[in-house]
Amino acid sequence: MSTPEPDGTGPVAEPGSDPGLAVDGADVLRVEHISKRFGAVTALVDINLHLRQGEVLALLGDNGAGKSTLLKILCGFQPPDSGRIILNGQEVTLKSVKRETVRWPLLNNRAMRRLARQRLDDMGIGLKSVDAEVARLSGGQRQAIAIARAIYSDAKVLLLDEPLAAMGAKEAALILDLIKDIKSKGDVSVIVIAHNYGQVLEIADRVNLLQQGKITFDKPAKDTSVQELNDIVIAEYRRALEERHRSA
Ligand SMILES: Nc1ncnc2c1ncn2[C@@H]1O[C@H](COP(=O)(O)OP(=O)(O)OP(=O)(O)O)[C@@H](O)[C@H]1O
Ligand SMILES: [Mg+2]
Repeated sequence: MSTPEPDGTGPVAEPGSDPGLAVDGADVLRVEHISKRFGAVTALVDINLHLRQGEVLALLGDNGAGKSTLLKILCGFQPPDSGRIILNGQEVTLKSVKRETVRWPLLNNRAMRRLARQRLDDMGIGLKSVDAEVARLSGGQRQAIAIARAIYSDAKVLLLDEPLAAMGAKEAALILDLIKDIKSKGDVSVIVIAHNYGQVLEIADRVNLLQQGKITFDKPAKDTSVQELNDIVIAEYRRALEERHRSA
């Protein structure tokens, strides 16, 4: 498999400037100054993020850091309070997404069934029937189908919110392989939220860390480690503990 090297060689921001605002002609997606509040809760503060063509960007962070909120804004499920989203150089005004039917598309045509079966088999997704209702599938099979759909559609940006959550080793391996396949094709860009740093560093080209609604860390995956990411999160817990004790 010809997996493109994680690219840490792209244009870098000037020292002291915001890495999320690095100018790069190959960005498929750019998020500029996105903020979001839910009443008294500030979920996102002035988020700048960019995603290059064919890149797998891992979005990491503690519970409640704002990861899912950011992805929901990107897919149009929730409007941001401020900021803009630029897709392929064009600013987008995302309308709310149409609810997707949860049934596997009706494959009445025999040839289509055969093709679906073959592709799912190729990808190692063991389904008893291609007519199975998605609601009845395991978490791993569902995630695999969502990714398969992206591979065989024209989707250029894939947003995955914890695709490895609550998954056994075998299922997680399948999903990681599918993401690697996407990456090897080079035309689909991926943002993936995950809590397991070891797994994420296997597939990611770059890592962004969200802490309390802010992106505090932006590095090529090859320049960071599980150790470094753990240390940052432990430091965050220590600060939270100290704050608790001070205000107690
Ligand atoms: N619809 C909502 N209404 C009110 N508050 C919300 C809503 N959605 C998210 N929040 C709050 O915004 C903050 C960020 O939540 P978000 O779900 O984005 O976190 P997360 O990083 O995805 O966390 P986790 O890792 O636990 O999934 C949290 O404080 C959460 O309680
Ligand atoms: Mg979440």
